[in-house]
Amino acid sequence: MFNIILFGPPGSGKGTQSANLISKYGLKHLSTGDLLRSEITLQTPLGIEAKNFMDKGQLVPDEVVIGMISTALETNPEAQGFLFDGFPRTDAQAEALDKLLTLKKTSIAVMFALDVSEDELIKRLLNRGQSSGRSDDVSENIIRSRIQEYENKTKPVADYYKRFNKVIHIKGEGTVNEIFEFLSNEIEKRKEKIQATVS
Ligand code: AP5
Repeated sequence: MFNIILFGPPGSGKGTQSANLISKYGLKHLSTGDLLRSEITLQTPLGIEAKNFMDKGQLVPDEVVIGMISTALETNPEAQGFLFDGFPRTDAQAEALDKLLTLKKTSIAVMFALDVSEDELIKRLLNRGQSSGRSDDVSENIIRSRIQEYENKTKPVADYYKRFNKVIHIKGEGTVNEIFEFLSNEIEKRKEKIQATVS
């Protein structure tokens, strides 16, 4: 199994790059943002609770998202690997993910951290807000709250994986293809290493 985390602030390109990577490497895409938005569309109790936080640009409580990821791991036993997009976002989520993957006798191979300036993030998200229908993209204040949550609670998660030498920082500005090529090269190197260790 080859498991990746795509990490970075709101609007850094995690979803965009995930779409390309899962089709190239046959990974199962697990985006907590997408899972939460499906719950909102279905108007489940979980979705109704989560919407209150998401509309303010705040993180949804850990137990909610950890539960969703745990279910997603259980319901995809055939997956060759997972691409985590927007998860983990707190130290508690990172620790829970490690435990869940250990139960599956696997672990995170690499975390790619996309670095993008704040001005560019705001420009991208306001631009997407004109057509996305996402309530958290329409106001600059909400976008700034999302970035603040990232700075306060999520950025430190990279330190958790740095301890295990698993973090690679990538410039998230440039064309989508340039960034995808860089990510692909780094994945190839790691996959080769893992295969060499196994054989
Ligand atoms: P989530 O859905 O995860 O959103 P996010 O992290 O805020 O980020 P986005 O999806 O908006 O951005 P992205 O980095 O994926 O960039 P994208 O490729 O879309 O989370 C939403 C909310 O759910 C959170 O605020 C929180 O409330 C809750 N939540 C989710 N997970 C949670 C968790 N684990 N714990 C607690 N709460 C959680 O690109 C953005 C735009 O930029 C697009 O228009 C795209 O076309 C454009 N773009 C992409 N790449 C480029 C490029 N290279 N150049 C120019 N434009 C580009």
